[in-house]
Amino acid sequence: MVSKPSYLLIVVLLAALAAIGLITWVAWTLTRPAPRVQVGDVRTVAVAPTVKIGGPFTLVDHTGMTVTDATWRGKLLLIYFGYGFCPDVCPTELQIMSGALDALGEDAARVQPLFITVDPERDTVEFLADYVSHFHPSLVGLTGAPEAVNEAATAYRVYHKKAVEDSATDYLVDHSSFVYLMGPDGNFLTMFNTGTDPRTMAQTILSYLK
Ligand code: NI
Repeated sequence: MVSKPSYLLIVVLLAALAAIGLITWVAWTLTRPAPRVQVGDVRTVAVAPTVKIGGPFTLVDHTGMTVTDATWRGKLLLIYFGYGFCPDVCPTELQIMSGALDALGEDAARVQPLFITVDPERDTVEFLADYVSHFHPSLVGLTGAPEAVNEAATAYRVYHKKAVEDSATDYLVDHSSFVYLMGPDGNFLTMFNTGTDPRTMAQTILSYLK
């Protein structure tokens, strides 16, 4: 038979073990690293599978030619919506796209980068011809009538709205900022968040080219 003090000792020991276990678990929970996202695993961008992204458009390129979404069938399309007067986000994203294309080397020939304006009033054919020349040589700028631009933006679920309007020609445009990757038959493949690393973008594009 176990004496009463021994019972007490066992209870205290069990309580101490439970406390140590709890503290260890809490410490582990607080210090464990966040789940790692594999390089090139940008396909995990949250897109509800039922939301259709992309669709037909008819616009004018920076050389004045009328083009449609079917103009580059057989190539992957890397599409960004923005505007030429954007002070920061748009140039940064276009540089990222250019960096990704450079990282692709010869495979970049199978990818058509497009910059579609959401500010057709200021982003004319002439303006875009100069603008796109500051980025990648294969970058094509697209503009058009406001209704045509709206149709394209709507198809890609792009939000855009004039903001901070100082005058008719001096204003900012709020807009969503994703880079869309479309397949050779025009189907949506994936999209990249703002600030995606160019090499990560290139690796993901390459995974769809194989
Ligand atoms: Ni922008």
